[in-house]
Amino acid sequence: MSYPLYDFSETVVLITGAGQGIGFATAREFARFGATVYLNDILSERASRATGELIKQGYDAFAAPGDIADPEQADWIFHHIDEHHGRIDVLVNNAGVEPVSSIFDHSLEDWQRALNTNLTGAFLCTQKAALRMREQGKGVIINIASIAGKSQPLYLRSAYAASKAGLVGFTKEAAREFAPYGIRVNAIAPGVIVTPMTEHLRDDPQQMARWRAEIPLGRLGQPQEVAALCLWLASDAASYVTGVAWHVDGGKNMA
Ligand SMILES: NC(=O)c1ccc[n+]([C@@H]2O[C@H](COP(=O)([O-])OP(=O)(O)OC[C@H]3O[C@@H](n4cnc5c(N)ncnc54)[C@H](O)[C@@H]3O)[C@@H](O)[C@H]2O)c1
Repeated sequence: MSYPLYDFSETVVLITGAGQGIGFATAREFARFGATVYLNDILSERASRATGELIKQGYDAFAAPGDIADPEQADWIFHHIDEHHGRIDVLVNNAGVEPVSSIFDHSLEDWQRALNTNLTGAFLCTQKAALRMREQGKGVIINIASIAGKSQPLYLRSAYAASKAGLVGFTKEAAREFAPYGIRVNAIAPGVIVTPMTEHLRDDPQQMARWRAEIPLGRLGQPQEVAALCLWLASDAASYVTGVAWHVDGGKNMA
């Protein structure tokens, strides 16, 4: 895949949940165009392994393990970035979990885990990043939501959909509030992307056939195709774009 040429040198980017999937692809693409990338993951081994892969390829990458839904751990991540780089230019709130359950017997624990990770974690990181970006007079925040929270119920994912719909609303509020400080905030609502999160779906031929039939481009998305929009949104090419939730779903939702 080839993109327009970006220059993210002198740019510090934090991606949450970057140990695999969309987060890792996003970290790799930012690094490829010169950014210093911090890869967060709740699983520290996963964060270290992913970071090691980028370092091996000659990129400027740092592991920032921790649970972003835990205020103290989120604090530590930003403190670590302050100490080493003293700035943050781009935050990608990507960490997410997707409990699958009927509402009839949804556990409160799973409900809260989804809300805490997908929404509260994004709020905590946004608050910390925006305080620093306000001082800098510039910054970009990208929230990885989902079609589930914007246009389309998925079925048996009520906590996930509620958290992602909340994230879309939060994106617009943040975009409105931060605009005077030169901070742009957008969301991305991916459709079905080939990552470990969707393995269970891809293992089911009937479900897969149904999904494919409903996607005008006729295939699932790749993590790099979400990363590509992150890069554009973070670049000066998108300097007049804020407060929008963008579908990356092969045309499934055209509104
Ligand atoms: N894959 C898809 O089809 C799809 C579609 C729409 C939206 N999304 C969203 O994109 C994002 C990435 O999805 P993915 O498919 O790459 O998922 P994934 O499960 O492959 O990766 C998510 C990563 O986030 C980490 N994580 C979970 N909770 C965390 C926490 N509290 N703190 C830090 N890290 C945490 C996990 O350990 C994992 O490495 C998620 O927010 C997901 O909801 C994915």
